[in-house]
Amino acid sequence: RDSEGRPIDEGGWFVAHGTDVETRWDGRDDWVPHLTPTARFFVRNHTEPPRLDAATWRLRVTGDGVERELELSLADLRALGEASYERTLECTGNGRRYFAEQQGGVRPGTQWAMGAIGLARWTGVPLRTVLERAGLRPAAVQVMAVGLDAPYVEDGVDHGHVRRPLPLAKALDDTLVAWEMNGEPLPTDHGFPARLVVPGWIGIASIKWLGELRVTTTAEDSPWTTRWYRMHGDGWSGADAVLDRMPPKSVIDATGPLRAGQLTVLRGRAWSGEASIRMVEVSTDGGRTWDEASLTGDNQPSAWAAWEHPWTPAAPGEQVLLARATDSDGRTQPELAADNEDGYLFDAVLRHPVIVE
Ligand code: MTE
Repeated sequence: RDSEGRPIDEGGWFVAHGTDVETRWDGRDDWVPHLTPTARFFVRNHTEPPRLDAATWRLRVTGDGVERELELSLADLRALGEASYERTLECTGNGRRYFAEQQGGVRPGTQWAMGAIGLARWTGVPLRTVLERAGLRPAAVQVMAVGLDAPYVEDGVDHGHVRRPLPLAKALDDTLVAWEMNGEPLPTDHGFPARLVVPGWIGIASIKWLGELRVTTTAEDSPWTTRWYRMHGDGWSGADAVLDRMPPKSVIDATGPLRAGQLTVLRGRAWSGEASIRMVEVSTDGGRTWDEASLTGDNQPSAWAAWEHPWTPAAPGEQVLLARATDSDGRTQPELAADNEDGYLFDAVLRHPVIVE
């Protein structure tokens, strides 16, 4: 059941990880919708989802980066204007469990396979419009988005409300203060009554149960940038980087029965943060040779693109299928993901074992 006590979609659409739930990719050959139905959309909560009353809820816009502080009701937000787009939302740790499978060693955190992602149609008001209403000062540098869920406490340390600074450039670009998901009000688990949607960025940027937007002229950190959602650890050789944009990834949807000598069409999807998909390659011989797949349908930045590829398996037995995406910025999925202590940004080519009859 979801946080409002409603039964979630029947039929084994979810894998539970404690209180987090993941959309299943594997073992289902009817996982086809382009948009992820809301009742099958993954959920990741750091603490308890709050039960907020839309009638009394207010979004506060505060800080020395605006000329006037605001307190906006849902009706005030709606009156500012409405925009809508289809974008993926993906958890930074999506695919974390494959670090153990492909590189050894379990990374702490939710052991997601590849289902901590969904594509939804989000409706709300551009964050830019809200900031303009408050009168953005030229010296403003960032917006701290603060959630109204219970403060996060770990090992007796209170880290405060879930919050994360968003650089002004992204805030003014395509970030949305959203109140609808797939044409319906946001359910409690997805941030009712309003959340940020930060397209193409790691999921934690899209703060749910939004209570405050603190606009400041100096940079302010939060534990969700200094302690978590940063690349570090012995295996990590790059800079100690705060994470923002998601890398390109791809999956093969469940195939249905495969028979030697019989033509089948392999299908899957590929996506990338702030980029569209340039190319998907498929290997049916464990990575020795690659063929370019056909992209079908929509191919928008920060939204997935469907692909297909015909294949006639030569012989029965176990085989490994691979797909590899390259995005419109020229980034290609690597053979191994950049190792890091927390298992973030798993973007390596996935191995899809199948049995040909
Ligand atoms: N916002 C608040 N206030 N509290 C949270 O726990 N989780 C973040 C983000 N926003 C979170 C939050 C994380 S880690 C992710 S991946 C996404 O919300 C998940 O959004 P969803 O549960 O709607 O799929």
